[in-house]
Amino acid sequence: MFDERYSIRSHTCGAPDATLVGQTVTLAGWVHRRRDHGGLVFIDLRDRSGLVQCVFDPEAAGEAFVLAEQVRPEWVVKVEGVVRARPEGTVNPNLATGEVEVAVSSATVLNTAETPPFEVDAGIETDEITRLRYRYIDLRRPEVLEALILRDRLAQRFRKELEHRGFVEVETPILGRSTPEGARDFIVPSRLNAGEFYALPQSPQLFKQLLMIGGLERYYQIARCFRDEDLRADRQPEFTQIDLEMSFCTAEDVIHLTEDVMREVVKEAGFDLPVPLPRIAYAEAMDRFGSDRPDTRFGMELACLGSVFADSSFKVFAGVLASGGRVKGINAKGAGDWSRGRIDALNQVAVDAGAKGLAWVAFTSDGEVRSPVAKFFSEVEMAALRAALDVEPGDLVLMIADAHDVANEVLGVLRLHMAAELGIERAGHEALWVVDFPMFLYDDEEQRWDASHHPFTRPFDEHLDVLESDPGAVTSYSYDLIIDGLEIGGGTLRVHDPAIQERILGVLGIEKAEAAEQFGFLLDALAYGAPPHGGIALGFDRLVMVLAEKPSIRDVIAFPKTSSGACPLTGAPGEVSARQLREVHLKLD
Ligand code: AMO
Ligand code: AMP
Repeated sequence: MFDERYSIRSHTCGAPDATLVGQTVTLAGWVHRRRDHGGLVFIDLRDRSGLVQCVFDPEAAGEAFVLAEQVRPEWVVKVEGVVRARPEGTVNPNLATGEVEVAVSSATVLNTAETPPFEVDAGIETDEITRLRYRYIDLRRPEVLEALILRDRLAQRFRKELEHRGFVEVETPILGRSTPEGARDFIVPSRLNAGEFYALPQSPQLFKQLLMIGGLERYYQIARCFRDEDLRADRQPEFTQIDLEMSFCTAEDVIHLTEDVMREVVKEAGFDLPVPLPRIAYAEAMDRFGSDRPDTRFGMELACLGSVFADSSFKVFAGVLASGGRVKGINAKGAGDWSRGRIDALNQVAVDAGAKGLAWVAFTSDGEVRSPVAKFFSEVEMAALRAALDVEPGDLVLMIADAHDVANEVLGVLRLHMAAELGIERAGHEALWVVDFPMFLYDDEEQRWDASHHPFTRPFDEHLDVLESDPGAVTSYSYDLIIDGLEIGGGTLRVHDPAIQERILGVLGIEKAEAAEQFGFLLDALAYGAPPHGGIALGFDRLVMVLAEKPSIRDVIAFPKTSSGACPLTGAPGEVSARQLREVHLKLD
């Protein structure tokens, strides 16, 4: 792991094995466990590298034996002794050092310790807040430590693979101006400029584009990003991107580069990435999975039921179809025998996801059909429904009638909900690209077009004609990397032509003055010979979470925030003094 130079010890605790038998070693670490065995005291000594059994014999250990009787878990001690083979029958095959033990001749207590609030061991059930409050103890647990070590290895490998391909790491400012990733900014008041604020970067997006205009050609950065969003299991207010940008490239080039680099990086975690990865267009992902980050490790795909119900006398379906909407459904195999109450509860899931209602037909294992809406369906329709969704006894069909995108999104949510409820197996890992996102999405509430990625994304050349006349039909050069239904990364080609950039801002309804105020510096720069360029950012925490097979992003961050954005260890965020407020020209309400 690491050698014994620069240390008061001769070996790490994980080192002793049969090859060291007979050697005198000096070890240092934490008392993991102490056992008293009629006369002999055994101490498992632990450091980052592992555990070794140290034996204190009253005859051989002398004064050290007295010490061995006093030590408590998590005390820090140094021992000296001879490595010897364990007596027959006491070899521990589950331990790297399990064939040997250290017969201690002397020992020193380097520090004592309070009784830890939880055990330094795998699989403890201590609540997360307590673990985070005492994170420095939690970090001693192998499962936490291993995730951080894996994280480091992956970061090093990213650096190596990118450097090898001509990428240059450049740091970009943390104190900056608002960037356009679409989340809320964290803002920092300026002392020297009363009434003005910095924004922490949501990503290095604009700076990396400036670096391309500056001729760097290939940039990367392991970049800290800040977004004031509501937190989830895969979201933190500050997180890390493997951020990169390249000049003179096509979208294809960025995708290939990412695949080549990722392939090498995931090897560190023992995974094999089957490149080239499958690709699926955004529209198809939405139609089949109801999500732009589909988990393709299980089926339950969305079926279009428009033809089944083309002449339906069920008013809800007929009305939606007549107004140009869709009727779509999924088949949740195995839920057909659920109780009425359990099925009815799905209505709320659908409504929360944006549906107006949920129509369901349960086909019980003993051949019965239960449904509040089946009475509106003809026999022909029922037969067609069974055929369209491959219905068997024991199945539950869930149907949504609504505008195309709403029907897709709601069923996408129901699909994941049912997979979780039914405990559908999602083994292994599946990576894919979702490509060709729409350039703009319509915001019904605000009644305006929004950039689906960000406003600097380059539209398909062949769609430039309809940029203003039909924004909804414009596709962008864009690609998201999805693993197991998580958005692991995303990127686009960028606009390098200032005239096109201006047209896009026009569609977004961003006035010239407003654009100049917000990112005039980028618009100016585009006018000074911007090369064609594009890039991607990989969510590093999410990637480590997937590769370390952890359920939460917090498991792969040394000092994460809780879901309320707080740090239980330091107590951040905290109050500041009246003087600090005065200095930055702020008054609290
Ligand atoms: P995007 O906003 O898609 O793109 O972010 C890239 C990746 O960062 C990760 N990510 C997060 N991880 C943890 N917590 C968060 N709050 C969080 N938000 C995002 C995701 C996501 O895929 N500048 C563009 C990239 C580009 O166009 O090159 C950008 O930031 O894994
Ligand atoms: P209603 O006619 O509103 O009483 O609805 C009859 C049934 O259709 C109820 O079970 C509703 O949950 C369901 N339903 C209502 N609107 C929709 C919709 N847009 N899509 C699917 N099912 C719906």
